[in-house]
Amino acid sequence: MMNMESARFKQKVVVFLLLALTTLSFNTFATPWDDRDPAEVEAILDSKFVEGKYSPKGADSCLMCHRKSSEVMALFDGVHGNPDISGSPMADLQCEACHGPLGKHNRGGKEPMITFGANSPVPAQKQNSVCLSCHNDEQRMAWSGNHHDNADVSCSGCHLVHTGKDPIRDRKREVEVCSSCHTQQKADIQKRSAHPLKWQQMVCSDCHNPHGSLSDSNLKQMSINENCYSCHAEKRGPKLWEHSPVSDNCANCHNPHGSVNESMLISKPPQLCQQCHASDGHASNAVFANSNNAFNAGQSCMNCHSQIHGSNHPSGKLLQR
Ligand code: HEC
Ligand code: HEC
Ligand code: HEC
Ligand code: HEC
Ligand code: HEC
Ligand code: HEC
Ligand code: HEC
Ligand code: HEC
Ligand code: HEC
Ligand code: HEC
Repeated sequence: MMNMESARFKQKVVVFLLLALTTLSFNTFATPWDDRDPAEVEAILDSKFVEGKYSPKGADSCLMCHRKSSEVMALFDGVHGNPDISGSPMADLQCEACHGPLGKHNRGGKEPMITFGANSPVPAQKQNSVCLSCHNDEQRMAWSGNHHDNADVSCSGCHLVHTGKDPIRDRKREVEVCSSCHTQQKADIQKRSAHPLKWQQMVCSDCHNPHGSLSDSNLKQMSINENCYSCHAEKRGPKLWEHSPVSDNCANCHNPHGSVNESMLISKPPQLCQQCHASDGHASNAVFANSNNAFNAGQSCMNCHSQIHGSNHPSGKLLQR
């Protein structure tokens, strides 16, 4: 009796140790192909893909080894792990829809699988082609050749799929994800005058299409001014008296991400105005910076030219009314 007990105990210890070892090797050790030449890994993946040896049991065969990872299992909290959604990977090739055919990977995990993110040996464009095989719709019509595509940013650079809550699609966290790469904008949105991004009342994708667009800076609208008018409709012309830099480009005077100057101005009046208005007329009065005259104090030039965005007054030519 005693012997049986201790034999069982020993058995348990062995199983426990084995489990501990596998868990350890799953979590702490790098993958066996980490120190191989990325081009070599890519070539193996290509030939695996052509051979197309998918596992007959789908996700079940993967989970035999990978179910211990809570990160892997979190796939089932999201749409990609839900077999009831039509077109979902789970309704078809399952894990292998994204990671490619199993091939000989199950022999100890020595043969690589397709991986995602910046550290993957698989080039960004190839990673993205996996996602685009299902997501090549009108939202991502302009993806190919846009700034992110050209800079080898992968879909996984912004998105997580093994999760029920993708941070970049959460309006409370999007700005954090975008600014992890865009440090200039991260600094700008903290400045004294800025769109309310730091309070999560606005997000980068209110103005930008992260998947690319036909405008210069991946704006959702065709031009900077159309972008601004979409929320500041009152600034849209035509005005009887236009101030030409305004109808030309709001960014002539404003930094949309934020500025140390009031109203997100790129520089302070009168200097802002003097960049374009030669200092030979009365506009140069403001250079006597220490004297408190109508050109320096209060609203500076706008003490008199208050209709800086244009005027509809019959005698508003000089933007004074
Ligand atoms: C016999 C066990 C086993 C099976 C079955 C298995 N894997 Fe693996 N897999 C491993 C091991 C071991 C590694 C390397 C260690 C690690 O990083 O987890 C690995 C690594 C991976 C990686 C890379 C992880 C990383 O951190 O870079 C992916 C992706 C992967 N497997 C996907 C799959 C998929 C999909 C299936 C099913 C089609 C599958 N595996 C089946 C054992 C297995
Ligand atoms: C086999 C097809 C397939 C593949 C491959 C695929 N997806 Fe999806 N994806 C779907 C389906 C189906 C949905 C749900 C669509 C819907 O609700 O309209 C979805 C939804 C999404 C969503 C929205 C998530 C949500 O909660 O609604 C994101 C983001 C996404 N996929 C990103 C990716 C990324 C990144 C990749 C590549 C790593 C990828 N997908 C690969 C089929 C796929
Ligand atoms: C620069 C960050 C970024 C990159 C890179 C990116 N996305 Fe997105 N994606 C977002 C944001 C932000 C949203 C939510 C706001 C929106 O829909 O515009 C989103 C939403 C989505 C959605 C759900 C809504 C929709 O548009 O259908 C899908 C699907 C998606 N992305 C797929 C992809 C795929 C596929 C790729 C790679 C080709 C990709 N994304 C690359 C930021 C990104
Ligand atoms: C929609 C595409 C898609 C599907 C389906 C999918 N994965 Fe992944 N997998 C990814 C992406 C993208 C990553 C990178 C991390 C992330 O986005 O969450 C990843 C990461 C991984 C990793 C590495 C995680 C780590 O430890 O860092 C493993 C292992 C893995 N997947 C296994 C699986 C298994 C097993 C299944 C099926 C149950 C599966 N994947 C289904 C796209 C997918
Ligand atoms: C993984 C890093 C990364 C993330 C995350 C990221 N970007 Fe980018 N983004 C880049 C790189 C790299 C470029 C190309 C180089 C450049 O122009 O700064 C770029 C370019 C851009 C451009 C075009 C810049 C130009 O020159 O006109 C815009 C706009 C942009 N990103 C917006 C976003 C938004 C919005 C998000 C979040 C939804 C985001 N990015 C998330 C890396 C990233
Ligand atoms: C209110 C609209 C708006 C919001 C919100 C916004 N942007 Fe922009 N962004 C613009 C406009 C307009 C431009 C073009 C500016 C120019 O060309 O002078 C731009 C340009 C850029 C550029 C190109 C570099 C540059 O300064 O010209 C990047 C990168 C960028 N934005 C990233 C971001 C990121 C990251 C966020 C979120 C933290 C964000 N933007 C939020 C409107 C916006
Ligand atoms: C998605 C909507 C949206 C878009 C697009 C937008 N704005 Fe705004 N803007 C706002 C909101 C909301 C506020 C008010 C913020 C507040 O009260 O703190 C604001 C405030 C401002 C202010 C006043 C800031 C201050 O400190 O008083 C200026 C200047 C401004 N926007 C310029 C622009 C310009 C220039 C563009 C185009 C590049 C633009 N906005 C595009 C929503 C938008
Ligand atoms: C010639 C420089 C200049 C240009 C170009 C310009 N603005 Fe302004 N804007 C100003 C100045 C100066 C202020 C602050 C004084 C004031 O409130 O009139 C201001 C303030 C604002 C404000 C906050 C106060 C208010 O009037 O609501 C908004 C919003 C704004 N501008 C939007 C725009 C938009 C949208 C465009 C493009 C259609 C634009 N601006 C182009 C100079 C300019
Ligand atoms: C990017 C260049 C630029 C900036 C900055 C600029 N302006 Fe102008 N402004 C112009 C141009 C161009 C005209 C049209 C001149 C013309 O028609 O002879 C003009 C016209 C005017 C006029 C009407 C004069 C006339 O003869 O029609 C006034 C007043 C004026 N600007 C004041 C200002 C003030 C005040 C500021 C600072 C808040 C300012 N401008 C900033 C370029 C600029
Ligand atoms: C005290 C009121 C006042 C202030 C402050 C003021 N202006 Fe004027 N501005 C006028 C009046 C009145 C006229 C028309 C009479 C004239 O031509 O001198 C005028 C005309 C102009 C004109 C068109 C004629 C020309 O001189 O080319 C421009 C451009 C102009 N102002 C720009 C500015 C700028 C830039 C500032 C700030 C540095 C400024 N103004 C500050 C009252 C003012």
